[in-house]
Amino acid sequence: MLREEVLDSIRANVENENMVKHMLATEAIMRALARRFGEDEEEWGLTGLLHDIDVELTEGDMNTHSKLGADLARELGVSEEMAHAILCHNETHGISPETRLDKALFCTDPLTGLIIAATLVRPDKKLAGLEAKSVKKRFTEKSFAAGTNRQHISKCSEIGLELGEFIELGVEAMKGIAADLGL
Ligand SMILES: [Fe+2]
Repeated sequence: MLREEVLDSIRANVENENMVKHMLATEAIMRALARRFGEDEEEWGLTGLLHDIDVELTEGDMNTHSKLGADLARELGVSEEMAHAILCHNETHGISPETRLDKALFCTDPLTGLIIAATLVRPDKKLAGLEAKSVKKRFTEKSFAAGTNRQHISKCSEIGLELGEFIELGVEAMKGIAADLGL
């Protein structure tokens, strides 16, 4: 399975550019996590890239979101492990994240939103000058990006990362694709 094919499929199924950027950001952080833990970078990255492929097809129906996504990912040839991570990133199904890949995707998904929100309140709206410590401060401000699930981000402890480390890794990973994110 090639990244290019995956991106083509995402482009065919997701029109909202911000959603595509969210998936690219998730990919970047998942790649950085895979490198950090000596896991398969391609596998982890593509899992992140694909995880919301069904977001427009399921039209906000949380009962089908990620089930359809896992099926679409399987059609593209992902492993069962990758499909499982995609499936359980939506907790509506009551399937708990089990593997390190499952858990990594689960905590990474909401982190991208917090980092993007922290970037957009900067005067220059650029990732380049964003410091991890200011994102960590935003994390503690409950009213900031209130829709971001802090509890899910905190699950980084289950893959052996402290919150500060996780945020730092996430910020650095997203800076690496700032141009693609338009930030
Ligand atoms: Fe997501």
